[in-house]
Amino acid sequence: MSLIHLIDFPPLGDERGSLVALESEQTVPFNIKRVYYLFGTQQGVARGFHAHHNLQQVAVCITGKCRMILDDGHHREEVWLDSSTKGLVIGDLIWREMHDFSEDCVLLVLASEHYDENDYIRDYEEFLEVAK
Ligand code: TYD
Repeated sequence: MSLIHLIDFPPLGDERGSLVALESEQTVPFNIKRVYYLFGTQQGVARGFHAHHNLQQVAVCITGKCRMILDDGHHREEVWLDSSTKGLVIGDLIWREMHDFSEDCVLLVLASEHYDENDYIRDYEEFLEVAK
């Protein structure tokens, strides 16, 4: 089964321009408790390099692009997030890395839980053990 689960957000544009609405438990398949965004990422910097025990997320590049790698401990897949109408669903126990941020990239992330450092697995070997 593919690790890449994309949601196509319906664009609600008209002649004035575009609009996307993200609704908790509708467009986004969980209750949204937290929203954060990455911007101003320096060229050549990669981020992420962690998994979570209990966290659902949807990531969307609302401007620019970046390359997302997902890894379930058995295989890796990658996808370019390069559209403001394309959301990537990231579930529990998925190692994620973000690479090749464009200068203008704004990566919006919707999350099912509040921030909790104890939920992070930041060591890849530990992740492989937990994911087994
Ligand atoms: P981190 O999750 O390590 O960033 P990334 O995985 O994108 O490389 O977060 C960077 C810092 O920001 C870290 O000190 C934790 C803090 N942080 C919060 O306080 N709240 C949040 O919701 C997030 C995502 C991070």
